[in-house]
Amino acid sequence: MSEAPILIVDLGNPYTQLLARRIREANVYCEIVPYTAGLEAIEAREPKALILSGSAGSLDEEDAPAVAPAILELAIPTLGIGYGATLLANMLGGTITRSMKFELHQKPISIRSGARLFSRLSGESIEGLVAYADRIDRLPETMRAIASTDRVEIAAFEDTDLQVYGVAFHPEVDADGVGRAILEAFLFEIAGASPTWTPGSFVDEAVDAIRAQVGEEAKVLCALSGGVDSGVAAKLVHRAVGDRLTCIFVDNGLLRKGEAEKVIEQFRDHFHINLVHVDASEEFLHELAGVADPEMKRKIIGRLFIEVFEREARRVEGARFLVQGTVYPDIIESVSLRRGKKGVIKSHHNVGGLPERMNLELVEPLRLLFKDEVRAVGLELGMPRELVFRQPFPGPGLGVRSPGPIEREKLDILREADAIFIEEIKAAGFYEELWQSFAVILPVKTVGAVGEERTYEYAVALRAVTGRDGMTADWARLPYDLLAKVSNRIINEVKGCNRVCYDISSKPPATIEWE
Ligand code: XMP
Repeated sequence: MSEAPILIVDLGNPYTQLLARRIREANVYCEIVPYTAGLEAIEAREPKALILSGSAGSLDEEDAPAVAPAILELAIPTLGIGYGATLLANMLGGTITRSMKFELHQKPISIRSGARLFSRLSGESIEGLVAYADRIDRLPETMRAIASTDRVEIAAFEDTDLQVYGVAFHPEVDADGVGRAILEAFLFEIAGASPTWTPGSFVDEAVDAIRAQVGEEAKVLCALSGGVDSGVAAKLVHRAVGDRLTCIFVDNGLLRKGEAEKVIEQFRDHFHINLVHVDASEEFLHELAGVADPEMKRKIIGRLFIEVFEREARRVEGARFLVQGTVYPDIIESVSLRRGKKGVIKSHHNVGGLPERMNLELVEPLRLLFKDEVRAVGLELGMPRELVFRQPFPGPGLGVRSPGPIEREKLDILREADAIFIEEIKAAGFYEELWQSFAVILPVKTVGAVGEERTYEYAVALRAVTGRDGMTADWARLPYDLLAKVSNRIINEVKGCNRVCYDISSKPPATIEWE
């Protein structure tokens, strides 16, 4: 943060966040701005260097993504990737053949020796994901072609005087280190960035920033859910303001087995953070009784959460701030791939209109971090791995994992089945590689037989998915032996359940949660 950022100008590319994460992995701080934000937004950040992203389009399209030519007057190192490279060459007077057809292919790329961009590579050929769209036919005088493929003569270029560089391929989409070597050559050899963006430096700066924002006296509230983001945010704020932080943990009766106890033990007993545990389960289950509609259930849970939280928050005198675990992907203005001119801003409002109603100012210490960075900061703060690598758990909790009306008996069965599944997933070493794994209780009873006796009990579904961000997910191909063990244990150990199914739907079209 103290060093000027590398600024990625997003021209509408699905790899932009991946690119940002690759740069952060090299311990260099970077930010993303949508091209629609304009020159002022770029200048305001005083970047150390610019990267123009790819885009699935042609320079010829109406409203084609572009940046003001004045960015070249900033006289800072600038790298174009894919469409961004063509755009740079075009702005500087190159000749471009337009193409409306956009293709991406993994291809061998021949590279010229002596190119600054390839200074961290050896050999004459690399593999890369090449974007075939608009083609650079002729470069401006001062630029030098530094790579080619069997289909394009100019697959990369550089002008070391102007500090302008371009690659027609995507170094951020790369598993074998070549792409990393190219990005690092740009960051370190060309842009002169330093690898100072580390969890430790982040913690120090964040603590100072929180103290500066909150001042010497005001009290701070935090809605603790037990999840990674709110937990790491609370721990960070606690380091900054100590006992002036009060965490409110609302038990809505829809938590997993042992969850409330774990949160209390960890945050109150172990971290010594002021923690108010509100057991509001009666209130939630009472209002949810008989409600089957998924949206109604979500609305009731959301409304009650705010009511209960506000009631408790009002008891904390002098509270002027509210901690929220907003992370960077929540606030990045994304450029619509369909060329929507307007950026879409997603914002977490998991405490509803509360900050306005109670006149609380938000403290969002994680707002510049990606999820993997939040985890690294959590470890840096001494939080246990079990907490830091917890899978996401939805706000409405087991409420969205019990289709149909919510009943205590069903929740109890669900909790036991879920705990067995998670225990076995952890024992088999799959927990951290799955995006989520959990049980769902079905609103049907089925017939079974134990010895001579007929049973008529609930069925449980198991759900395990892989994925990066919850936007898409694939059902996990768990080993049959593991599924068999979990099924046997659930049917034998959980009273009231005589059947186990495995959910083999991916997202889309199914969602991860059942409701
Ligand atoms: P779906 O079910 O929409 O879920 O595929 C995508 C991801 O979001 C989580 N999820 C929620 N998280 N409040 C949350 O904080 C919610 O209301 C909520 N609904 C779904 C879900 O667990 C998955 O990771």
